[in-house]
Amino acid sequence: MEILTLGNELLRQRTERINSINSEVTHIAAKMLELLIQQKGIGLAGPQVGYMHRIFVAKLEKSPGLVFINPSVIETSEETEKCEEGCLSLPGVWADVVRPSSVRVQAWNEKGRPFTLETNGLLARCILHELDHLDGVLFIDHLSEVKRNRLLAKFEKGQRV
Ligand code: NI
Repeated sequence: MEILTLGNELLRQRTERINSINSEVTHIAAKMLELLIQQKGIGLAGPQVGYMHRIFVAKLEKSPGLVFINPSVIETSEETEKCEEGCLSLPGVWADVVRPSSVRVQAWNEKGRPFTLETNGLLARCILHELDHLDGVLFIDHLSEVKRNRLLAKFEKGQRV
């Protein structure tokens, strides 16, 4: 399992729902968490490893890893926050992104148990960022075209070095 980076078409495609949370899915979730920790990220979504299904994992420092399967947003706050974001699929690219401050999300875990989570701060931001990945959306898509093009030029330059 390796992380796909910008330019790979899979990062721009929508993913499919997972029909059955079987041992294969559990295995993939565990591998994704392992890779996430190894890469020192806080979130990783299926498409980033070429697995085109609705799953992402999240792990903030010191808290246990969370697996979200077939996640859906129930509610987001009207209040927003601006914070710097990066992405394992866009190494070296960082930018301020405005997102809702809190989110309530429903999903299934790797054991097939449904759960609802209401959170704010970094975890809310991470969840919203990863949800975007499931629909082929990257954090740079939330920026102005000028800002995005500037970052992309910088990214491409970095990739050539
Ligand atoms: Ni990302």
